[in-house]
Amino acid sequence: METTLIILKPDAVQRGLMGRIISRFEDKGLQIVGCKLMQISQDLAAQHYKDHASKPFYAGLVRFMTSSPVLVMAIRGNGAIAICRGMMGATFGSKAAGGTIRGDFGVSNSFNLIHGSDGPEAATRELSLFFKSGEVLDFQRAGEAWIYDMSGGKPE
Ligand code: RTP
Ligand code: MG
Repeated sequence: METTLIILKPDAVQRGLMGRIISRFEDKGLQIVGCKLMQISQDLAAQHYKDHASKPFYAGLVRFMTSSPVLVMAIRGNGAIAICRGMMGATFGSKAAGGTIRGDFGVSNSFNLIHGSDGPEAATRELSLFFKSGEVLDFQRAGEAWIYDMSGGKPE
């Protein structure tokens, strides 16, 4: 099972889209194992986006991400990182396909609603930035047996 970091960005929180976006992940069968509303500090934004520090959009991105509260989630599932990225859609709202979160809920290229870790190393690094030890929970869902076929000993 993979766990990925998802951030509902300030525009998603301000526009009252949290519930509808969370529902998409729950409807898919992914498990929310960590969740909190928080305001991102300058320092945390700088750490999170360190790979983008030299990009022309960096200053505006940090300003946006620290401007208003975000909802951060740890989301778990078999292949959760790629599944979540697919559900998010292309980076820019104007380009994202219908049926994706960015495609269905936004048109802006700057205010693109959601962040998701782009690989296993990023997920590990980003989860440890946003969640303290004990804030990501391990628990069995009552309906798990109907989410994955476990007859072969692993989730299919
Ligand atoms: P994210 O990290 O937020 O999940 O999005 P992503 O992988 O699709 O995009 P990434 O290339 O990692 O860029 C991070 C965020 O920076 C903003 N951005 N602006 N103006 C631009 O050319 C530009 N490119 C990226 C977006 O907010 C993007 O989500
Ligand atoms: Mg990215």
